[in-house]
Amino acid sequence: MSRIAIVSAMHQELRALLPALDRHQSATVAGRTFHIGTMEGQPVVMALSGIGKVAAATTATLLLQEIDVQRIVFTGAAGGLGTGVRVGDVVVARELLQHDMDASPLFPRYEVPLTGRSRFPTDPDLSDALASAALHCLQRAAERIGEAHRPTSASTARCCTRALVVSGDRFVATAAESNALRGALPDALAVEMEGAALAQVCADFGRPFAVIRTISDRADDSAHVDFNRFIAEVASVYTREILSTWMSG
Ligand code: ADE
Repeated sequence: MSRIAIVSAMHQELRALLPALDRHQSATVAGRTFHIGTMEGQPVVMALSGIGKVAAATTATLLLQEIDVQRIVFTGAAGGLGTGVRVGDVVVARELLQHDMDASPLFPRYEVPLTGRSRFPTDPDLSDALASAALHCLQRAAERIGEAHRPTSASTARCCTRALVVSGDRFVATAAESNALRGALPDALAVEMEGAALAQVCADFGRPFAVIRTISDRADDSAHVDFNRFIAEVASVYTREILSTWMSG
């Protein structure tokens, strides 16, 4: 059966997912521990990538080359960019772009040199399956999540599918920067620091991938406060439930 990797950037996110992994063994390569087992009966590897594009690219390469994983799902938090995107919403990426890639005037802004592309599509089947699991979980969330752990009213949190998610080696923490990103990339719904790097590596290997993120902040002047609160209080709740629902579906 094909093995799926579930990758997070931060310890808090991985720590929340690991209890869902059965028959646990591990392998360490290039300083990364790969937790190998099953989730809802499906072969799964969980790994911490670390933060940023290089860390994500290295982790993806190891998973595909050394751990023999067939599909990769990147999970975690993202800053909301789209005007209607709120803290607590779940975003499933349709495509990824590196917002800090700029080799102009040699190549168009955002284009990854020598690939001819700036946008890398996720696997539609994988993304659709994750989106329907997320929708299902959000519908149950009002009963299942305590008020104290609810980033917004869970009954009004939404799942944004078909999203452009942009990645860069910068935590976007000013309204000026998020406004500039919105101006330059009006269809971008969320910003994070790893997804587009994963996308480029998976495109090179011809392997399916998906990115599912929960909005932790609005990438504005209070982003760091909202992000830290979110990671501490909420990271454990959403993603594990969504992934378990997807795996058991
Ligand atoms: N991940 C979560 N929030 C983010 C932000 N504001 N900028 C970049 N990555 C993020």
